Amino acid sequence: MVLVFPFVPMASNSTSKLLFCILASLFLVTSAQNCSNHIFPANRTFTSCKKLPFLEANLHWNYNSSSAEVSIAYRAKQDPKGWVAWAINPTRQGMVGSQALVAFRNSNDSMIAYPTQITSYNPSMERENLSFQVSNISADYSNNEMIIFATIGTLGNGTTVNHVWQSGSSVSSNIPQMHPLSSPHLQSFGKIDFQTV
Ligand SMILES: *[C@@H]1O[C@H](CO)[C@@H](O)[C@H](O)[C@H]1NC(C)=O
Ligand SMILES: *[C@@H]1O[C@H](CO)[C@@H](O)[C@H](O)[C@H]1NC(C)=O
Ligand SMILES: *[C@@H]1O[C@H](CO)[C@@H](O)[C@H](O)[C@H]1NC(C)=O
Ligand SMILES: *[C@@H]1O[C@H](CO)[C@@H](O)[C@H](O)[C@H]1NC(C)=O
Ligand SMILES: *[C@@H]1O[C@H](CO)[C@@H](O)[C@H](O)[C@H]1NC(C)=O
Ligand SMILES: *[C@@H]1O[C@H](CO)[C@@H](O)[C@H](O)[C@H]1NC(C)=O
Ligand SMILES: *[C@@H]1O[C@H](CO)[C@@H](O)[C@H](O)[C@H]1NC(C)=O
Repeated sequence: MVLVFPFVPMASNSTSKLLFCILASLFLVTSAQNCSNHIFPANRTFTSCKKLPFLEANLHWNYNSSSAEVSIAYRAKQDPKGWVAWAINPTRQGMVGSQALVAFRNSNDSMIAYPTQITSYNPSMERENLSFQVSNISADYSNNEMIIFATIGTLGNGTTVNHVWQSGSSVSSNIPQMHPLSSPHLQSFGKIDFQTV
């Protein structure tokens, strides 16, 4: 299987009061649509979240500063036949070297998630241990989104990491197949600081 992961890298006084009220309520409506209002299956809650700029994806997390562990929920729009992945690259930006969590619908029809290392542009996508601890990993499918839940850490190199996210439309023999090479799939990387909200 060839998998080229992307990742390469604001009148009169009363009128203005009225206008202010309209603008303020528009702002409230807009902020009510932000990722922090998302309701997860089983009432799981996360204090921080970020809407990611590509692939209709969001990252939610709880950072525990005393254990330097972070519990994440990565959710992204996906067809039931596809797959999603979220990764930290401890050494550089982009795909190669990233320590990934992947999720898809298994051939037995249940959602599955596991860690895998993206060591090349043609990774095996088999279950592997990562360069950091991953615990309590699971996947869910709800509202046309695939969700990966996991706890990672101890984070060894501070709270700011390079991260990469990806999605593909097909899984064959329980192995995720190459993702599209269109622009959003090649731009889906960045930095994230788990200490921010
Ligand atoms: C998102 O919504 C929450 C709760 O409604 C609010 O506290 C927060 O300030 C909003 N964030 C942004 C960036 O709009
Ligand atoms: C989720 O929270 C609601 C309201 O608090 C409760 O009724 C429901 O049982 C909870 N569901 C789960 C799966 O914990
Ligand atoms: C954070 O980590 C500490 C140390 O492992 C643990 O005792 C505590 O329960 C954790 N807090 C949460 C909210 O999980
Ligand atoms: C489906 O397969 C996965 C991976 O082999 C396994 O972990 C899971 O328990 C299976 N689920 C069911 C309902 O059989
Ligand atoms: C992954 O790590 C666990 C313990 O952390 C170990 O038992 C297991 O053998 C490792 N698996 C591989 C494939 O290295
Ligand atoms: C592990 O994940 C399950 C849901 O998959 C959650 O209910 C539970 O609280 C998590 N446990 C820990 C220790 O994070
Ligand atoms: C810390 O960085 C080293 C290389 O600089 C890397 O091998 C290791 O996996 C990183 N640790 C974590 C927890 O990200």
